[in-house]
Amino acid sequence: MDIYRNINELRSSVNAWKKQNLRIGFVPTMGFLHTGHLALIDAIKPKCDKLIVSIFVNPKQFGPGEDIERYPRNFERDQQSIEAHHADAIFYPAVEEMYPDDYYTYVQVEELGAVLCGRSRPTHFRGVTTVVTKLFMATKCDIAVFGQKDYQQALIIQQMIKDLNFDIEVMICPTLREEDGLAMSSRNSYLSEEERQRAVCLYRALKRAEDLYANGEKHAALLREEMKNEVLTVPEIRIDYLEVVDALTLQSIDIIERKTLLAGAIWLGKARLIDNIVIDVEPIDA
Ligand code: PAF
Repeated sequence: MDIYRNINELRSSVNAWKKQNLRIGFVPTMGFLHTGHLALIDAIKPKCDKLIVSIFVNPKQFGPGEDIERYPRNFERDQQSIEAHHADAIFYPAVEEMYPDDYYTYVQVEELGAVLCGRSRPTHFRGVTTVVTKLFMATKCDIAVFGQKDYQQALIIQQMIKDLNFDIEVMICPTLREEDGLAMSSRNSYLSEEERQRAVCLYRALKRAEDLYANGEKHAALLREEMKNEVLTVPEIRIDYLEVVDALTLQSIDIIERKTLLAGAIWLGKARLIDNIVIDVEPIDA
């Protein structure tokens, strides 16, 4: 497995693969890989001939005062895991390689990036779409995979691909969870043992809303209230949002009639945790 720290070197391998008509798969990550990331690698592997995994803690998607400095990193361990999952290359650029001093260009998907996580992290998605565009250009990938845990991110990237006519297929893989239901995330490493026990309240709240819907409740306001009550049974949690939104537009809804996203973000100690559940509404027979 090759490790590239430089875009031009990665490009020359990618160009050689392209000449052989090989299909390139891509898994973008910020490293500190967990089982969820490895499941993304396993899912895309059969769909491509060459597989590139990137590891880059992207400064442009962190706002002022956020956790870029303490974001967990462990390249050696990541390298071993990626190799064990049979990727062909790791792209591991330095910040200066991606953003030299004279870097000025941003890619922004409007509307979808302004709601949910975008409210408390106003420059986050612009940073994500900018880096993902650069990574798409560097890897020349034909197919890329993202996790459903970052539902809003995945939706925004799909919109960007459509709007900018990138010829890239996107796979979205289900969220991987710990035994108690907590969504796997590199940021779970910020939690103390005791916080870790409490963190599952976010998933419990989403499940509560899902169960209420399954039992006939369609009023979004009631589901929001119940999610809030569930989370607030746990001490020292700060709610960023607990929302019921249209799964395609991410706009708040009153009544569940179409595919719907139950989504939440909470603060617990040093960690901001996100999670979601999609409700696939059965079409009503005409
Ligand atoms: O989901 C992530 O880990 C990041 O947002 C991504 C897609 C690798 C871009 O930095």
